[in-house]
This record gives sequence, structure tokens and C-alpha cells, in this order.
Amino acid sequence: MTTTTAPIALATALASFDALWSPRIVNRVNDYDVRIAKVQGEHVWHAHDDTDEFFLVLDGELHISLREPAGERTVVLPKGSVFTVPRGTEHRPAAPSGAAILMFEPTGTPTTGDRHDEIPSHVDSTTGHLLD
Ligand code: NI
Repeated sequence: MTTTTAPIALATALASFDALWSPRIVNRVNDYDVRIAKVQGEHVWHAHDDTDEFFLVLDGELHISLREPAGERTVVLPKGSVFTVPRGTEHRPAAPSGAAILMFEPTGTPTTGDRHDEIPSHVDSTTGHLLD
């Protein structure tokens, strides 16, 4: 897929799939993917050694737990919030009540990072799927 020539309605794109923690690639910018995902419950602790990871909350509320040198903390992102997880930082996204999110990261970045805890069955370890 290359950059699309028509506008993409995120609401329509979100309505086109149901899978949780299974990002869809809606567009590309240079060598970055714009991905959207529906999420609920907890993802898995993981880290991306070579890239930051950008999150925008489209709907609901996203929590991201972070393991930093000073200790563990959780940032809470209401709808409309953005946050970037720095490269190398172990993190675990979660959405107790469900959320829709947009991520911006280099094409080919695995959702479960370069290192991770055991991947639970509800988490799709992928570099993103194309929209139908
Ligand atoms: Ni990540």
C-alpha cells in the first residue's frame, strides 16, 4: 500500500473491523504507518528498541503503564490526548472500558516490540493489517 489518493474517514475505517489489539494501517507518511486500533483490556509489556511510538486517543480512555528508571507509572489519556512512548521504554497499553486509538510509527514496527512478556491470546502480534 502506498499513500491513498482519497480521504479516509476514521469512523468508517474503525467500523470496518471488530478485532481488538489488531491495528489497521490507514495511511502512510514517508516511511511511517498511520495505524488505528480498537482496544479493550490489557496489552502486553513490551519495548521498541529503535523507535518512539506515538498514540492519539480517538475515543474512550487509554492507559499506558511505563517502566522508567525512576519506577513504574501509568499515564491516563482521555479522548483527544496524545502521548509518545520513548524508544527503549517498556510499556503496556490498557483500556479498561475500551478505546479507539491512532498510532504513528515506522512501517514494519511490531505491535509487541522487539522484546516482550509472553503474548496473551487476545493480543495480535503484527506489523499492522491493511484495511479491507
Ligand atoms: Ni508499543
